[in-house]
Amino acid sequence: METKSIGIFVGSLRKGAYSKSTANYIGQALARHYQVVFVEMGNLLLFNQDYDDEGTTPAQWVAFRSQVGQLDACLFVTPEYNRSMPAVLKNALDIGSRPYGCNLWDGKPAAVVGVSPGRIGGAMGVGALRVPLAFLNLRLMMQPEVYLSDAAELFNEQGELTNASTAKFLDRFVDAFERWIG
Ligand SMILES: Cc1cc2nc3c(=O)[nH]c(=O)nc-3n(C[C@H](O)[C@H](O)[C@H](O)COP(=O)(O)O)c2cc1C
Repeated sequence: METKSIGIFVGSLRKGAYSKSTANYIGQALARHYQVVFVEMGNLLLFNQDYDDEGTTPAQWVAFRSQVGQLDACLFVTPEYNRSMPAVLKNALDIGSRPYGCNLWDGKPAAVVGVSPGRIGGAMGVGALRVPLAFLNLRLMMQPEVYLSDAAELFNEQGELTNASTAKFLDRFVDAFERWIG
C-alpha cells in the first residue's frame, strides 16, 4: 500500500518561529508512518482572481495547487496574528480553493495546532482558521485541541522541544491525528 502524504502548513515565515519548531516535532513523529511534506507558502503571490480568469496563473500557484492536490491530509501549525490567522495561511487557502469548482481542500482530513509565546496559545487564531477550513470541507479533527502557550519556554536555541509534558501532549495529539487520518 502506498504511504499516505501529510502536508504541513506553518503559519509563520519567521526563521526562528516557534510554530515551525512545533511543526518539526510533530512532523518527525508523523514521519514514522507517513510521507511528511512542509508546504512552501511564502512565495505565493497574493490572490487575485484575474490571474486565473486571464490565463496568467503564476507558476508558484500552479506548483502549489499540484502539491496540495496530491496530499492525503493537512496539518496547520500556526501563531495568532491580531487575534486571527496569519495572512500567509488565508492566501494559501484561497489559492487552493479556486478556480471556482476546483476546491483542492475538499474532503481532506485536517487538524490545527496553535502556538504562542503568550498565554492563550493562539486560540483565537485557531478559531479563525477553522472557519474557512470547515467551509472548504476539510474533515477537521476537533479534539484534542492544541494551544501551546508560553512557547518561548518550551524550546532550546536549536528549536528543539525540551519540555517533557508538552512532548507527551503532542505525542497524544499525533496518535489522535493518525487515527483520524486512518
Ligand atoms: C503582526 C503580529 C500580530 C500578533 N498578534 C498576536 C496575537 O493576536 N496573539 C498572540 O498571542 N500573539 C500575537 N503576536 C505575537 C506572536 O505570537 C509572536 O510573534 C510569535 O512568536 C509568532 O509566532 P512564531 O514564533 O511561530 O513566528 C503577534 C505578532 C505579530 C508579528
